[in-house]
Amino acid sequence: MDNLDQIVSEAQSAFAAISDPDALEQVKARFLGKSGQITELLKGLGKLPPEEKKTAGATINRAKEAVEIALNARRDAIRKATLEARLAEEALDVTLPGRAEARGGLHPVTRTLERIESLFHSIGFEVADGPEIETDFHNFTALNTPEDHPARSMHDTFYLQGSDGKVADGVLLRTHTSPIQARYMQAHVARYGQLEKMPEIRIIAPGRVYRVDSDATHSPMFHQVEGLWVGEGVSFADLKGVIADFLRSFFESDDLKVRFRPSFFPFTEPSAEIDVAFMSGPLEGRWLEIAGCGMVHPDVLRIAGIDPEKYTGFAFGFGPDRLTMLRYGVNDLRLFFEGDLRFLRQFV
Ligand code: PHE
Repeated sequence: MDNLDQIVSEAQSAFAAISDPDALEQVKARFLGKSGQITELLKGLGKLPPEEKKTAGATINRAKEAVEIALNARRDAIRKATLEARLAEEALDVTLPGRAEARGGLHPVTRTLERIESLFHSIGFEVADGPEIETDFHNFTALNTPEDHPARSMHDTFYLQGSDGKVADGVLLRTHTSPIQARYMQAHVARYGQLEKMPEIRIIAPGRVYRVDSDATHSPMFHQVEGLWVGEGVSFADLKGVIADFLRSFFESDDLKVRFRPSFFPFTEPSAEIDVAFMSGPLEGRWLEIAGCGMVHPDVLRIAGIDPEKYTGFAFGFGPDRLTMLRYGVNDLRLFFEGDLRFLRQFV
């Protein structure tokens, strides 16, 4: 049975040479599998004379045991080595600094809009809004803007293309927030029409507007904030008071002058541009145009279903991008819309 010792040491060195668990099971088959060397010897026992069977059987079984012990030891060693390799590979360096979440911030124009909303909210204005893809009717017709007005032309207004490639009839990107006036008044009349005395309308409406225009002070997309106050006895004096008060609060300064310069809008009469001048600082003494305004034209009230003999109102449209430039001293409007974080981070 020298042969057996040889098989055992052959198995031991075969196992020792392996470090892959699957390969180990394959090599095991060579010794302990169905036709493995040890198994064949055990099968051969049957042919031995009965008196030899017992000792031969015991010897083969001892050898089998020795092979199994070597196999198990190798299995354990491989498992341990695999685990250690994994632990080493996945090691966490708990002393590394964490990855901080970048803190977001509000866009400077958004800050201005929120500021305007809260200032007007404090004097009883609600916030209204309307669609950016607007009907020709609300953007122009309901605002008393005639068919041949230049604002309606292709080079001032973005129209939309239908699926047939032609200009879609009756819809456009709104050129101002004034259509919200028209929409709001209509809805208001629909809601309260039957009452003897209509509740006052007092809204502001911030939003994006679009015009075919692009340079350092004009962007094809920009913001406006519309304001509208309609009720009994609302006058131009109220308009002046509200605007002057708003501007002083907005810029946190009494050191500014406000001027109403006669102008023209089809939907207000009389109409004015609002200019502001600071009495100190880098822009000292320069008049800057910041809004259009006026008394709501009687026809605009009438189109919305409001009796212009009974009610009057004023409206204004601010350029909050301009206000933001003035408040923070930014000189190029395009910076607001390019999304450059080096610029935007300064406002966080
Ligand atoms: N909608 C006008 C514009 O875009 C501004 C405006 C609003 C004027 C309300 C008067 C009243 O220029």
